[in-house]
Amino acid sequence: MSVSARILKGDQGIAEAVAILRRGEVVGLPTETVYGLAGDAFQPMAAARIFEAKGRPLTDPLIVHLPEVGWLERVTRIESPEQQIQVKQLATAFWPGPLTLILQKHPDLPDLITAGTASVAVRVTAHPLFQKVLRELDSPLAAPSANRFGKISPTTAEDVQIELGDMIPALLDGGACEHGMESTIVAIKEEGFEILRPGPITKEQLSEYGHVFHPSGIVNTPGSLPGHYAPKTELHIFETDIKSYIPPLKAGLLVLRTPDPEVAERYAALEVLSPSGDLREAAANFYGALRRLDNCKVDIIISESLREEGIGVAVMDRMRRAAYGSLNG
Ligand code: TXA
Ligand code: MG
Repeated sequence: MSVSARILKGDQGIAEAVAILRRGEVVGLPTETVYGLAGDAFQPMAAARIFEAKGRPLTDPLIVHLPEVGWLERVTRIESPEQQIQVKQLATAFWPGPLTLILQKHPDLPDLITAGTASVAVRVTAHPLFQKVLRELDSPLAAPSANRFGKISPTTAEDVQIELGDMIPALLDGGACEHGMESTIVAIKEEGFEILRPGPITKEQLSEYGHVFHPSGIVNTPGSLPGHYAPKTELHIFETDIKSYIPPLKAGLLVLRTPDPEVAERYAALEVLSPSGDLREAAANFYGALRRLDNCKVDIIISESLREEGIGVAVMDRMRRAAYGSLNG
């Protein structure tokens, strides 16, 4: 029998989570984006446990979570008055919420967290349970997504149990995640805001506060590896209309809206991301739908490509990496 993590709930669960974190151990925690695997950012042993549980290379830095913008000075060094203004503007507009900023790291923050780089990724999470844990612990928490390295991100407590249950002592159940998609990562550069990973805060939203651009060269972060978020089953993206396509194998279908019955009956399994065609709803359902299709013993998953506007950019980014990872993993 495989070991499983204890599922913590409510106020008692928060107190237990804090006690475990204080000992330098790790706990699965809900955020508004995806579940994170959290450890005290100031205990290097906790960071080591995170890397070990995920099977994540030590070269891949962790995001540090705060309950409020006032804690920024515990983990970062603001570089200039101009940057101070930009951070304040973005923080006022998007925190607490699904935006991660890359800033200069505070010298006291352990190097393991930032993989030896001079910068640190930080965000103020909006999830009430995560916030309570942070405040009670009174220390920032490092938390990457609570999945095995390269696999599908977890959006429910059950997903965390399946991904990491045998590697972690406990997880706090906060129900399904609101956004279902990891935070937007932004580096503040002289030229403007560089989006290192698209997410729930869209390019359009960021554009109100400055010039926004995507990385010009290769970005050396795993979220930007071509193969990530991958199912075990081969995933193929269909760029054109699926109406006339007859799958050659026992296939699962991932689509935005409910397909015509004559299309649906060609597939052994079907997942509809949003019957009304709403991209935010589709993003929230994406990882769960992919996980379910991956578990229903089809030979291949066919996925319809979505409109690349707003959060659709983030969903297509994950879908492409998932497809690449499924074929090249
Ligand atoms: O929504 C989220 O961001 C979730 C929840 C749990 O907060 N966290 C998350 O963490 O997605 P993770 O570790 O799965 O993805 C973080 C990404 C990685 O691709 C990592 O390489 C990048 O952020 N990253 C971390 N620190 C960085 C830094 N200093 N510079 C550039 N990229 C960094
Ligand atoms: Mg991740």
